[in-house]
Amino acid sequence: MRSWSGIGIGLCLGLLCSGIGRSAEADWTILYAGNRLGTLEPCSCIMSEAPGGVDREAWLIDQFRKDTPATIVLDVGGLTGTPGAERPARIRLVHAYMALTAIGYDAINVGHGALSAGVDSIVRWRKQYRVPLVSANVVDAQGKPIFDTFRILELRTKAGEPIRLGVTGVTAARFIAGSAGSALSEDALSRSPAPGVRIENMFDRLPAVLEAMRVQCDVTVVLCDGGKTAAQAIAQRLKPDVVLTNVFGPPTATREASGIVGESGLYGRALGRLDLSLEVSASGDATPRLQLRQAIPFPISAGAKRSPELKKLLNDFLLVQARALSQMQREAQGRKISYMGAESCRSCHAGPWEHWRTTAHAGAYDALVKRGETDDDLQLARAVTGYRRLGGFVSAERSGDLGGVQCEACHGPGKDHVRDHLLLKARAGLPLQPESQGAPPIAMLLPDEVTCLSCHDRETDPDFEYEAALKRVRHPRPQAPKGQANDGES
Ligand code: HEC
Ligand code: HEC
Ligand code: HEC
Repeated sequence: MRSWSGIGIGLCLGLLCSGIGRSAEADWTILYAGNRLGTLEPCSCIMSEAPGGVDREAWLIDQFRKDTPATIVLDVGGLTGTPGAERPARIRLVHAYMALTAIGYDAINVGHGALSAGVDSIVRWRKQYRVPLVSANVVDAQGKPIFDTFRILELRTKAGEPIRLGVTGVTAARFIAGSAGSALSEDALSRSPAPGVRIENMFDRLPAVLEAMRVQCDVTVVLCDGGKTAAQAIAQRLKPDVVLTNVFGPPTATREASGIVGESGLYGRALGRLDLSLEVSASGDATPRLQLRQAIPFPISAGAKRSPELKKLLNDFLLVQARALSQMQREAQGRKISYMGAESCRSCHAGPWEHWRTTAHAGAYDALVKRGETDDDLQLARAVTGYRRLGGFVSAERSGDLGGVQCEACHGPGKDHVRDHLLLKARAGLPLQPESQGAPPIAMLLPDEVTCLSCHDRETDPDFEYEAALKRVRHPRPQAPKGQANDGES
């Protein structure tokens, strides 16, 4: 990670630092984060001067607010990148919301990535933890906004002047719309990330929201989860006072002809900081003009103390996260290694099952018991299913239903296949959203000569002849007219 000291004395970025370190003229400050990409914990890069971490961030913002009470804190988007609906990703997102709310963020834009965790969950979390979410263009099936379209924040400047600030947020399919230099595709701005949810084109929604904000507020701020190109387009077309967006570089800001465009930092290692004031222009123009005094990074530095409250939240998060991850790992392993037994195949493959029952394979273990040879390891290995494999036959007591050369001795462990086909069966006839259909069912192996030779090897079965033997174990195919399914299913 890049250290902030490398950027230059005074930490000054862009052409805006008219008064390095002299923020005395500024009346109020915006701190803003973006593209945290799920990083709540400090980075393990000990050498970094800005390791980040929500516990340090909380302490630093607290200190800053003591000196500068007229500070508002905003999250632009990219809080968790593209988390998905898996448990660990959802755990990360809800803890991110909890952490930012505890730090005292005044508004959090609903990012594109977060939506894949499920809008219902996000709506529930917002209520439960009072998360100050805003979004102008995430709407339900009827086109109604799901979240507050904007929030009004009131603050008093150093001089005691009241300011009313309107903050709204929009999201785009940011990896398309946000890549630097790329043309802003209207197509990429309107999407359905989940059933019942639409991301409307931000330019269809923002004008009305900005109009409502302008009536009630002195300053308008748009949080844009969509990158620099989208942010500049908003600044040029709709002329809010401030547009803040998430990029993959360090925090910086520029004054566009129409207003201020600020870019966030990354991974929560540094926020952007805008020191601002409202001024009546020399020409005596009645409407005060927003002045940018300075734009500098607000690094979450190694020297910071850690807020005890956020440190606890962070620890809880890491623990819950670790548990969820290890459970997922166990499940993933189980997928490859779980044997189900022939009974679980029977309902869907009655034909092969009836035939298999009649072969010596089905009774191989019973025959071994009869001969009293179950202590013979080599014999046992040939007469059971998944011997000494994880999830396979261990002993008659522990895995009685895996005795005999069952389906999975030839076709491989079938847990995933069974689960997928049961799901498909259960869903049959239901109207499906294309995106919820998921991957095709896991297929079983079709055995070849090598499969047979693992048991019918030269030593134990020197007369084994594949072609001839296959004829005797191949499941008979039901007679079916040409062109129809004839794979032995019933
Ligand atoms: C001794 C090995 C062996 C066992 C045990 C076995 N099969 Fe098969 N199975 C095969 C072979 C070999 C094929 C491929 C046949 C071919 O190529 O025509 C096959 C094919 C299949 C097919 C594909 C459709 C078809 O008929 O070609 C299904 C379904 C199937 N088996 C289900 C089962 C089920 C269910 C069981 C347990 C009740 C089972 N098999 C047990 C060797 C086995
Ligand atoms: C809920 C129903 C269901 C169960 C239970 C089930 N299967 Fe299948 N299986 C299917 C269907 C449907 C197909 C046909 C897939 C196709 O043709 O695309 C299939 C296909 C197969 C095939 C051919 C290769 C493939 O995967 O397409 C084999 C071999 C097979 N099953 C073996 C088994 C074995 C062994 C079990 C038990 C461990 C089992 N099946 C349990 C529904 C089931
Ligand atoms: C997990 C071990 C195992 C696998 C895999 C296996 N077999 Fe067998 N097979 C046996 C055992 C055990 C017997 C019982 C007779 C014996 O002890 O040889 C047997 C018996 C047979 C017989 C004689 C059946 C009868 O009708 O009396 C044939 C034929 C046969 N297997 C073919 C095959 C073919 C073909 C394959 C591969 C598609 C195969 N086997 C895979 C263990 C296996």
